[in-house]
Amino acid sequence: MSEPAASSPKEIIPVRIAGTGSYLPERIMTNHDLEKSVDTSDEWITSRTGIRERRIAAEGEHTSHLAAKAAEKALEQAGIDAADVELIIVATITPDTLTPATACYVQQHIGSLRAVAFDVSAACSGFLYALELARHSVGSGAFKNALIIGAEKLSSFVDWTDRNTCVLFGDGAGAAVIVPSTNGDGRILSCQLGTDGAQAELLNIPGGGSACPVSIDAPSDKLAFLAMQGREVFKHAVNAMKKAAIDAISAAGLTAKDIKLLIPHQANLRIIDAIVERLEINRDDVFINLDKYGNTSAAAVAIALDEANRQGRIESGDKVLLVAFGAGLTWASAIIEW
Ligand code: COA
Repeated sequence: MSEPAASSPKEIIPVRIAGTGSYLPERIMTNHDLEKSVDTSDEWITSRTGIRERRIAAEGEHTSHLAAKAAEKALEQAGIDAADVELIIVATITPDTLTPATACYVQQHIGSLRAVAFDVSAACSGFLYALELARHSVGSGAFKNALIIGAEKLSSFVDWTDRNTCVLFGDGAGAAVIVPSTNGDGRILSCQLGTDGAQAELLNIPGGGSACPVSIDAPSDKLAFLAMQGREVFKHAVNAMKKAAIDAISAAGLTAKDIKLLIPHQANLRIIDAIVERLEINRDDVFINLDKYGNTSAAAVAIALDEANRQGRIESGDKVLLVAFGAGLTWASAIIEW
């Protein structure tokens, strides 16, 4: 039997985030609006999740449209022309169509006609999965730059009669542009990804794929909606995000005290509080916007990163910890030196 190939990974050059952008649909749906359609209350939603309102995309506004608007802002900040983008990765679980990839529509919307474009499906961890792919793609020299986008139109996949799920999710998109780093202008220090497919049943959209194709005879089939075992997911989320955060800090050769800002996945304030407590990070150093947008899955960390950036919460040299968790189960973390 032949020996396995040597496992020394190829050197990659450091890369950095040159620009960020985000886009939220105009329509706001408050907890009080939901009180009118399901048996819930603003008090229950706020105290159990921290969510007060979420954005809902307009009819005809698809995931690719949200993604394109966020992407254009990120490119503008990076000072890169859309025509010069070489790689587009869209992280989403709510694609415009099963095929082609949403990234293909985005390529057309923004006019990045030379770019290679594809999607990543890793639920709420998707933006950080895309970040790691972009880090290697640009760091290896295969692509000069990469546009990564987390974008979701979850309102199309939520059962609006199920109070267990419909109060939690929202629509939106966030983007970042990855380029090679030159001395002193920031870089991605570490990125950690993980998956546990044994827990796939805890959070999924069972219908619409080859296992259970969409049936034109049953258009309102609930199998096409997002289904979740909330309590179980909660426990896994706290443990996996805590471990992912510790692994990213350690891989970067840092301690929790070095972290200027923690940007966690925005699913539930109680999950964030549990992680912050265990990591011994100051609560003031945690970026939270889930009260305004709810859980936007792959878009959540990307939107939060852009808001933190544009609000001046991150300065040159700061170490930012990003951590996410989602269906799969998947989890991911990254440390960025800004
Ligand atoms: N309004 C009012 N009551 C609700 C409700 C709502 N929107 N949703 C659920 N309830 C009820 C339940 O029916 C249950 O009633 P019962 O005790 O009579 O059966 C009660 O509230 C408690 O439900 P439970 O599921 O134990 O609540 P919880 O404190 O675990 O909170 C979640 C539920 C979903 C908010 C929480 O489990 C959670 O956030 N899980 C993780 C979700 C997540 O992060 N998903 C995405 C991962 S990326």
